[in-house]
Amino acid sequence: MSLFRKKSIDTILKNAEAESHHGSLAKHLGVRDLTAFGIAAIIGAGIFSTIGKASADGGPGVILLFIFTAVACSFAAFAYAEFASLIPVSGSAYTYSYVAFGELFAWIIGWALIMEYAIGNVTVAISWSDYFTSLIQNSSSYRVNEWLCLDYFTAKQNYGTVMGMLAAGVPLDEIKANGQTAGLVEGFIAYGSAPKIGDFRIIFDGPALLINVIITMLVYRGIKESRNASNTMVVIKIIVVLLVIFVGAFFVNTSNWNPFLPNGIGGLLSGISAVFFAYIGFDAISTTAEECRNPQRDLPRGILYSIIICTILYVAIALVITGMVSYNELNVGDPLAYVFEKVQSLSWLSGVIAVSAVVAMASVMLVFQLGQPRIWMSMSRDGLLPPAFAKIHPKFKTPSFSTIFTGFLVAVPIFLVDINMVTDICSAGTLFAFCLVCAGVLKLRMDPSAPPSKFKTPYVNSKFIIPALFILTIVLLCVYNMSWIDYYFLKFESFNAFLTKIPIYFFFIGFAIIAVLAFKYNFSLIPTLGLLSCFYMLSQLGYKNWLYFTIWLIIGLIIYFVYGRSHSKLAKQKN
Ligand code: ALA
Repeated sequence: MSLFRKKSIDTILKNAEAESHHGSLAKHLGVRDLTAFGIAAIIGAGIFSTIGKASADGGPGVILLFIFTAVACSFAAFAYAEFASLIPVSGSAYTYSYVAFGELFAWIIGWALIMEYAIGNVTVAISWSDYFTSLIQNSSSYRVNEWLCLDYFTAKQNYGTVMGMLAAGVPLDEIKANGQTAGLVEGFIAYGSAPKIGDFRIIFDGPALLINVIITMLVYRGIKESRNASNTMVVIKIIVVLLVIFVGAFFVNTSNWNPFLPNGIGGLLSGISAVFFAYIGFDAISTTAEECRNPQRDLPRGILYSIIICTILYVAIALVITGMVSYNELNVGDPLAYVFEKVQSLSWLSGVIAVSAVVAMASVMLVFQLGQPRIWMSMSRDGLLPPAFAKIHPKFKTPSFSTIFTGFLVAVPIFLVDINMVTDICSAGTLFAFCLVCAGVLKLRMDPSAPPSKFKTPYVNSKFIIPALFILTIVLLCVYNMSWIDYYFLKFESFNAFLTKIPIYFFFIGFAIIAVLAFKYNFSLIPTLGLLSCFYMLSQLGYKNWLYFTIWLIIGLIIYFVYGRSHSKLAKQKN
C-alpha cells in the first residue's frame, strides 16, 4: 500500500550522494566531537533544574530512577547506533523508520522528532532565562522588569489568581510570604506593570528569546563554528559538574540518605519525566551523520560514550545533593547551586554553578537547534515538505532556510507556554521516537535480506525471556501489590480516573503483544527491552501529555495528506 511504501538503504545512500551535486554538508566531525556533542545535548536543564523536584518527590532513591532511565536509554542508544551505522545520513530516526516501516511511519516519527527538538529548546530557553535573570540580579544592582521574564498566559493567569485572593481580603505581603503562593507574585507584577498597545499587554520572556536568536545565528553560520562553541561549553560544564561531585562529597551526611524512598514507589515514579528529560539529547548526534568524517565507526561510539559518561555523572550528582541536604529541601529550580549556598564556606561555588548552568543550557540548545533543521531538510529531500527546507547555504554549508524557520518555531511558544507543560510534552515525543527506533531494529532484523550493519547490537534470543518477564510482572503485581492492580485496572470511581489509566492499559496490552511476537520471531533482547522500558516510561507520563502529543500528530498527518503524500519523491520514483 502506498502509505507504507519503503525506501531501500541503497536508495537513501544514492540520494544522499546525489545531493552532494547541489552542495553537500561540510564533514568536520570525529568521535571526540560527537561524544562532546552528545554531552553538550544531554547535560542541561535536567540536571541543573528539573532534578530538584524529582529528588524532593522521590528522595535519595531518585538514583534508582537515574539508573533505570540510563539503562532504558542505553537500550535505545544501541538501536540508534545500529541504524546510524547502517544508514549514515541526516534524518536520524526519521530516515530509519522510512526503511523499517515505510513512509507514513517515517513522517510520524519525523514529526515527533521536530516536536522533541523544538519543544525541548523552548523548555531549555525558559530555564536558561531563569538562571540568567537571577545571575544578573544577584551580581549587579540591575533589575530585569517582570514583564520581560515571563510568558503572557502565565502572567495573566497569576494576575487573575492574585487579584482573587486580594479581593478575598488576603494581603499581598501574606501572599508573598506563603511558599505555596509566592510564585504567583512575579506574574501578578508582570501583568500589572506591562506596557500596553491598546488593550494588549506586552509580556514576553526576553532572555529566552535572546538566547534563541543567538543560537540560531551560530547554527546558521556553520557546523565548524557550532562544533568549536559546543566543545568549549562542554569542557566548562564537565569541570563544574566534577567540582560539584568532588567538593560536595566532603559535605555528604549519610543520614540524609535515610529514608531512601520516603514517598514510596509512587513518589519516585512521579519524577520519571524530569529524569528522562535529563537524558534526552544523545539521539540528536545521529542527525549530524552527513557531517561526520567516518560516521559508521564514530556515530555508535559517540552515542554510547556520551550516555555512559553522563550516567556516571548523574548518579554521582544525585548521591551528592541528596546527601548534602535533606531531600525535602530540594524542590527548588536551582538545586545544585542551592546545596552549596547552605554550606557557608562554599557559597562562592553556588555562583560558579549558576554561571556554568547558563553555559550548559546554551550548549543543549545549540545541539537541538542543529538537529532540528536537519530533520526538516531530510523530509524535504524526500519531497514530503517543500524544497526550500532542503536548501543548503552556498557559503556556510548549512541548511539555511530550515535553520531560520526552526528559530521561529522555537520563538513562538516562548511567548505562550510555561515550562512544566513543555518538559512533559518533550519527554513524551522523545519516548515515542525511542520506541519506534527500537521496534525498527527488531523489524529490520526480521528481514533476512537486510544488509548487515557495521555496528551490531549483541544478539541474545528473547524468545523465553520476554514472555517469562511478562508473566512474572503480572504474578508479582497480583501477589505482592494488589493495590497496584486496583490502581491500574479495577477502580473506576470517575471518568477522570479511567482516563488517567488509559496509558497504563496501553502498556500492558503492548507488553502482552510484544511477549507473543518475541516468542514467535526470536526477537533480539536488547532492542526488545528498550522498546518495553521506553513504553513503560511513556505510560507513566499521564494522559494529558498523550492528548497533546496526539493533537500534534493529527496536525502532522493533515500536512502529510494535504502536501507530503502527493509530492513524495518515492511515490514518483515508483510510478
Ligand atoms: N537533556 C537535556 C537537558 O537536560 C534536554 O537540558
